[in-house]
Amino acid sequence: ARDVRLAVVAGDGIGTEVVEQGLLALETALTGTDVRVSTTDFDLGARRWHATGETLTDTDLEAIRAHDAILLGAIGDPTVPSGVLERGLLLKLRFALDHYVNLRPSRLYPGVASPLANPGDIDFVVVREGTEGPYVGNGGAIRVGTPAEVANEVSVNTAFGVERVVRDAFARAAARPRKKLTLVHKHNVLVHAGHLWRRTVEAVNAEFPDVTVDYLHVDAATIFMVTNPSRFDVIVTDNLFGDIITDLAAAITGGIGLAASANINPERTTPSMFEPVHGSAPDIAGQGKADPTATVLSVAMLLDHLGLPDASAKVEAAVAADIAERANLDGRVRSTAEVGKDLAARIAG
Ligand code: IPM
Ligand code: MN
Repeated sequence: ARDVRLAVVAGDGIGTEVVEQGLLALETALTGTDVRVSTTDFDLGARRWHATGETLTDTDLEAIRAHDAILLGAIGDPTVPSGVLERGLLLKLRFALDHYVNLRPSRLYPGVASPLANPGDIDFVVVREGTEGPYVGNGGAIRVGTPAEVANEVSVNTAFGVERVVRDAFARAAARPRKKLTLVHKHNVLVHAGHLWRRTVEAVNAEFPDVTVDYLHVDAATIFMVTNPSRFDVIVTDNLFGDIITDLAAAITGGIGLAASANINPERTTPSMFEPVHGSAPDIAGQGKADPTATVLSVAMLLDHLGLPDASAKVEAAVAADIAERANLDGRVRSTAEVGKDLAARIAG
């Protein structure tokens, strides 16, 4: 028998509701296997911050480190000043746990209505760098609030950080049928970082000669994502460009209700973290309206990461089958728990 220790950070807003269904999917997928999951709930997010002023303490972090993986719901609440929980909790987890591969797959499942007139086959994955770029908090402001204010956010790109994420993206591209890697950046303007990324891709390509490399400036990439998303296979890009294009990628494949993600530490020296791309959606929190599908798909990524591809495939197949029949619901809207229950039934087969 194998024991998996899962840290659960349900977080804010709809986080609790979607995580509950994610855990149901996980339990169901592992029924009949020798894998047992034990969960630890971490009280982190807006409630904790209001009560104690804490976002993520060293004690929390050390306790989380003692787990095999993390399932996260959503972080952020309108009653907390912008940036406090995002920087102090979510980004702190990604940075402290060295989640340098932020993996965000985009697939147009049959039956999903894309807002694109001609979506074609969409099946690509964005490898978003997760520990550097403009997210590091390297900056500052002077003369704040005056007409002479200067505000800097400096993007940090290290050879070490760029190379390791680029190598990971190449390995993923090499393992896929189309073996294509697109670097997305803006080296015509961001010449320092842009050239580091470009040189690195060129150099690492020598280790993966069967991978075809392609380059797009980020602005052009947004055009192709709308006019010809089939051209993408694996995209590698920095933290901020990756944040932006993965929301667009979610929009063309049925919306953020379906978009899953994994924050991975490939060396496995820390627990990787699985979370839906969507936020805490305070406007619909507590109403049982949230779609738990993105969380359930994140659970599929979690199972895959744990080396349980069969259980992962079962979860993904259940989601695909459920999505294929959504058009037959005649506009009836299922609650969060109903979707979770239907998915679990399909997983159980
Ligand atoms: C995401 C979110 C976060 C990010 C925010 C909430 C800090 O938008 O996971 O994409 O920018 O990475
Ligand atoms: Mn985002």
